[in-house]
Amino acid sequence: MNEYKFDPSYAFACQLDQQDKLASFQKEFYKKEDTIYLDGNSLGLLSRRAEKALLDVLDSWKNKGIDGWTEGKYPWFHISEQISNWLAPLVGAFSEEIIVTGSTTINIHQMAATFYEPKGKKSKILADELTFPSDIYALQSQIELKGLDPHTHLVQVKSRDGRLIEEDDIIHGMTDEITFILLPSVLYRSGQILDMKRLTEEAHKRGIIIGFDLCHSIGAIKHELSEWNVDFAVWCNYKYLNSGPGSVGGLYVNKKHLGRSPGLAGWFSSRKDKQFDMEHVLTPAEDAGAYQLGTPHILSLAPLIGSLELFNEAGIEQLRIKSLKITRYMMDLIEHELKDRGFTIGNPLDDLRRGGHIYLEHKEAARICKALKVNGVIPDFRSPNGIRLAPVALYNSYSEVWKSIQILKKIMDEEQYKQFENKREVVA
Ligand SMILES: Cc1ncc(COP(=O)(O)O)c(C=O)c1O
Repeated sequence: MNEYKFDPSYAFACQLDQQDKLASFQKEFYKKEDTIYLDGNSLGLLSRRAEKALLDVLDSWKNKGIDGWTEGKYPWFHISEQISNWLAPLVGAFSEEIIVTGSTTINIHQMAATFYEPKGKKSKILADELTFPSDIYALQSQIELKGLDPHTHLVQVKSRDGRLIEEDDIIHGMTDEITFILLPSVLYRSGQILDMKRLTEEAHKRGIIIGFDLCHSIGAIKHELSEWNVDFAVWCNYKYLNSGPGSVGGLYVNKKHLGRSPGLAGWFSSRKDKQFDMEHVLTPAEDAGAYQLGTPHILSLAPLIGSLELFNEAGIEQLRIKSLKITRYMMDLIEHELKDRGFTIGNPLDDLRRGGHIYLEHKEAARICKALKVNGVIPDFRSPNGIRLAPVALYNSYSEVWKSIQILKKIMDEEQYKQFENKREVVA
């Protein structure tokens, strides 16, 4: 990380803002004057460029109707493939290995339908016990679809402390019964980064297919999926990539697997030049486009076009440098300002293992989050006792971090949180 000597004063926060090479990106986003948004790890903010791209696509629909598929600023028929070129640097892959499609959950189904091939004893899936529930539900149903029992065929690596998953324990779980692995790149609660390179090497030594759910890492950390030889990956684009609620997700399939028939097929799996021949025998695309299903949700992927422009201008290296610095700064402030108030930092402290958000544990977490919101700071709560705070490199400032921690300190010292029930709302 950059040279940096912590100082708890507001003046120091302002000094860090002045030195911030990415500060100019903040004005690209719709930020509310009276709000400090620290929830970009759940739903990223709208940028003016994302809005513009969506309006451009609406304009094609307005003015061209059906011809928008092949004309206009972003002809829709090729847009999913085109976006891959702009996404490639964020995942460290060749553009033909990537496609914007579906959602994380759908893409997990697609990857398991394509790559999970139980044979004799080698028939189990390995995951971890802290992963996001949707991943587990999808794997369980894929096991059932193969006529097997998820109770015996889904093995979940245990956490030693309820926060982290040790790579050694995962490797220990790679027995000769395992054929397929799905793990998070960054754990959604503790923000721990798993060592994807090492885990991929170890899985391959044992003849196991391995893939990662990048929801909490894409746009926050660097990936080298092709170089690491990862078999597949899936992600959403609505968190750090700021492409809007429920926007279209993405997937990556390593070059060596391209050509493998999609487990779940649809007419958009087709080679583009064959698709409108309307044959009843599919000729799958030769690139990752083969793992699409039906018509892309054009209006839900349009914002990504504008959003990725910003990422390509800022560069993922610079974004990661700032993310590490601003999360380090937030942890330093927490340690300095919130001592003896019942908080524990639950994310890894080490730069190599820390993703883009801070995970603050407290037994009153649910109602502390409610008090933060009333005070204009937007965190999110994760059961049972976690407050996630994401100072996002593209649009958060060091002075916002400073102010948030002061507000949190006041909430604790004045016991403001006691006005609320310690129970989560419907959404977080
Ligand atoms: C790690 C992780 N995996 C999967 C999902 C589910 O994504 P989707 O609802 O877009 O399928 C989420 C959603 O937040 C997530 O955080």
